[in-house]
Amino acid sequence: MEKVCVLGAGSTKYGKLEDSITDITIQASVGAIESAGIDPKEIQAGYISNVFGVADKQVHLGPVVMSNLGIPEKPSLSIESACGSGSVSFREAFANVAAGFYDAVLVAGTEKVTHTGTEWTTTYFSYCSDFFYEGGAGASFPGLFASMARAYLTEFKATEEDLARVAVKNHENGLLNPKAHLRKKITVDDVLNSAVVASPLKLYDCCPFSDGASAVILCSEKFAKEHSKNYVNVIGSGRGGSPATLQGRDHMTTIPSTKLAAQAAYKMAGITAKDIDFAEVHDCFTIAEIVDTEDLGFFEKGQGVQAVREGRTSMKGDIAINPSGGLKSKGHPIGATGVGQVVEVFEQLTGKAGERTVQDAKIGLTHNFGATGASCAVHIFQSV
Ligand SMILES: CC(C)(COP(=O)(O)OP(=O)(O)OC[C@H]1O[C@@H](n2cnc3c(N)ncnc32)[C@H](O)[C@@H]1OP(=O)(O)O)[C@@H](O)C(=O)NCCC(=O)NCCS
Repeated sequence: MEKVCVLGAGSTKYGKLEDSITDITIQASVGAIESAGIDPKEIQAGYISNVFGVADKQVHLGPVVMSNLGIPEKPSLSIESACGSGSVSFREAFANVAAGFYDAVLVAGTEKVTHTGTEWTTTYFSYCSDFFYEGGAGASFPGLFASMARAYLTEFKATEEDLARVAVKNHENGLLNPKAHLRKKITVDDVLNSAVVASPLKLYDCCPFSDGASAVILCSEKFAKEHSKNYVNVIGSGRGGSPATLQGRDHMTTIPSTKLAAQAAYKMAGITAKDIDFAEVHDCFTIAEIVDTEDLGFFEKGQGVQAVREGRTSMKGDIAINPSGGLKSKGHPIGATGVGQVVEVFEQLTGKAGERTVQDAKIGLTHNFGATGASCAVHIFQSV
């Protein structure tokens, strides 16, 4: 297997954007190309992740992106895997570069949905669940994660304040991220007093609907060395699956695909969870971050909540979780999120994260899943 590196990264701001889905994807891609310091013609293939291009009247984004970059002859793959599309796309690109098929590829993720409004976006997103059993029966994602939250609070004697602390931390991190969607300092009381969306989850327990695009250039180590000193090594990559419905699972307070993907990624990297300095994890709802940090092996089952209480997941804690602000504050343009996490890790490990730099960090992890974790990918990165 070839060693694989991230050579450059670019992103639009996340939030409510005016430009078209094609335009924002090109903006992020050009940012990644300029950051890598390469000529677009050096890109040999494109991996473009997106879920609801149909909402902005553009699907089959792969060739559209490649044509706009002036390389229409280069092959591309348009990938959908719900909220995990970005990381699945990254994994496919990783596998192809590792296998030696390509020396340098573009991975771009994108979403443009806010113009459709909350009702329609909620409906669209519910198509990502097993629609017969979940979305079609009225269980939208806030409802499904509320079920997980209720089960966790009951089993581990956690409280709604504990969930709120995750939101407060991620909003604090997002304040330092100029590209974050919700840049607003909040308190535990703000969260507890915000509108109930699906009990026990309230407005501030939820990620927002966001537009946005992120992109990275992935390449072989040889290509990276020829072009720059500012690259990051991809040392682990893992995938996993879970039953598509919550009811198909043995337990509501763990996501099997996260465990499988993490185990595979740690094995490839030859490290354990203890070696990770910081992580960008899939906190679509506050409960998800707590469950993720346990499934990724950072904390024992049931202890993730205690870690949040003690500030162990804050920027200055044992392991910084979501220094970007996470999906909660940075935002969640679903096709872009997994790629955006890689952008954050690249910036952290190449000294470009500014005020939100995690001190002395050498190894970062990204974790991104689709739906309630039916599909998942975990990647591990190391500074050069
Ligand atoms: C929580 C949710 C229902 C709120 O939607 P909404 O009530 O229609 O919110 P609006 O877009 O009308 O925004 C109303 C206000 O709340 C803010 N807001 C919206 N969503 C927010 C969120 N998740 N957290 C904090 N503030 C939020 C808006 O910025 C706006 O503030 P303003 O009035 O100061 O401008 C919606 O964001 C949601 O469903 N989120 C989950 C998305 C999801 O399921 N993603 C997939 C995960 S698997």
